[in-house]
Amino acid sequence: MNVLLLGSGGREHAMAWKLRKSSYLNKLYIAPGNAGTALLGQNVPIGVNDFEAMKRFTLDNDIDMVVVGPEDPLVNGVYDFFHKDEDICHIAVIGPSQRGAQLEGSKDFAKQFMQRHQIPTARYKSITLDTISEGEDFLDTLPSPYVLKADGLAAGKGVIILPDLEDAKRMLREMLEGKFGNASKKVVIEEFLSGIECSVFVLTDGISYKILPVAKDYKRIGEKDSGLNTGGMGAVSPVPFADKVFMEKVRTRIVEPTVKGLQKEKIDYKGFIFLGLINVEGEPKVIEYNVRMGDPETEVVLPRIKSDLLELFIGVATETLSTRMLEIDDRFATTVVMVSGGYPEAYEKGKKIEGFQNVEDSIVFHAGTDERNGDVVSSGGRVLAVTSYGKTMDEALRTSYRNIGKISFDKAYYRKDIGFDLHNR
Ligand code: AMP
Ligand code: GLY
Repeated sequence: MNVLLLGSGGREHAMAWKLRKSSYLNKLYIAPGNAGTALLGQNVPIGVNDFEAMKRFTLDNDIDMVVVGPEDPLVNGVYDFFHKDEDICHIAVIGPSQRGAQLEGSKDFAKQFMQRHQIPTARYKSITLDTISEGEDFLDTLPSPYVLKADGLAAGKGVIILPDLEDAKRMLREMLEGKFGNASKKVVIEEFLSGIECSVFVLTDGISYKILPVAKDYKRIGEKDSGLNTGGMGAVSPVPFADKVFMEKVRTRIVEPTVKGLQKEKIDYKGFIFLGLINVEGEPKVIEYNVRMGDPETEVVLPRIKSDLLELFIGVATETLSTRMLEIDDRFATTVVMVSGGYPEAYEKGKKIEGFQNVEDSIVFHAGTDERNGDVVSSGGRVLAVTSYGKTMDEALRTSYRNIGKISFDKAYYRKDIGFDLHNR
């Protein structure tokens, strides 16, 4: 099969790495890709939202399948674009339809969906400028802290948690008046849930599903989860507290009703469902849905899948996922992300990265890199994700840290405490 993979981050490098191992793979193209994906396939300079260019490319290069990494093209309807065009409707797209992508594209849609299907989540109210007084009244009924979420995509910045009631009311108004543009013209106010989070990934063909290895990511820039939110500073899989009992609750109360709900509502969904979950005293609740894999979670989830990923995707595309095997590696996998100094605020790019050749027993996934005159240089905030296996989480982490010490670029930074909160669980 010839595959076009969309995206350019660590997630896509990990996907390319896993697809490369498939016996079904012929040619692999990555649009636009990075210096890491260039080692596994051919990068093509097409933006992830340039559907017309994708159409021409898939026809010219005999592409059989498009695998979508990030959420943006899904929310913009890439699945429907291919499906509705008779020239390219034979090409499988791994990712949900535009309606399905609303699970991530609209928090209000996701909350209503969960309510319709009795899926456990925080109590909430959706508010627009016309109903702002209802929103203020709802805030009055909630204990501190207050959770305000922009309805639409806001580049990961749309969730605000405030301890003070008056601040929350002021923020509600600012958001409704356009703090995040159109994304916050509607705001979801939520009850705050207290617990530890994890990420559960599901692959579905719309009929059956497979639950992939569970992971936990570390979003804050600073140690002990302090400082600003980032795209993700590291991840581990499996997650000790997400044991058999917890995962069975996740399956019966969340995964089953989600897949059945999509089916019942005739929402075309052939791709990943990412459940951002919180464990509230042993009870899983949904914090958010995403319609793609997580990053950096993919860099620990895919290395733990022994089965052929492209075969699973073929199962998704042909609605035969239930007949395919999903075999999981028992070992732990950990990843530690190296970022540019200053990230997630201002940082410099174009720093030469050295030391790749000294890495032993880890996989270095590129997250934000480019090739320049034969050198690999940084091109983003998150630059590399160093993944390792181990019989224990600590063993895997030791290997990641040993190897991260061998890679260098000017002003590199990484967290030294990935997994810190899992030791006694
Ligand atoms: P989201 O963009 O929905 O993932 O939210 C970002 C982060 O905000 C989550 O990873 C949680 O840590 C936190 N968060 C979101 N909703 C809630 C909630 N209802 N209670 C507690 N924390 C929340
Ligand atoms: N690591 C969280 C995300 O991909 O959204």
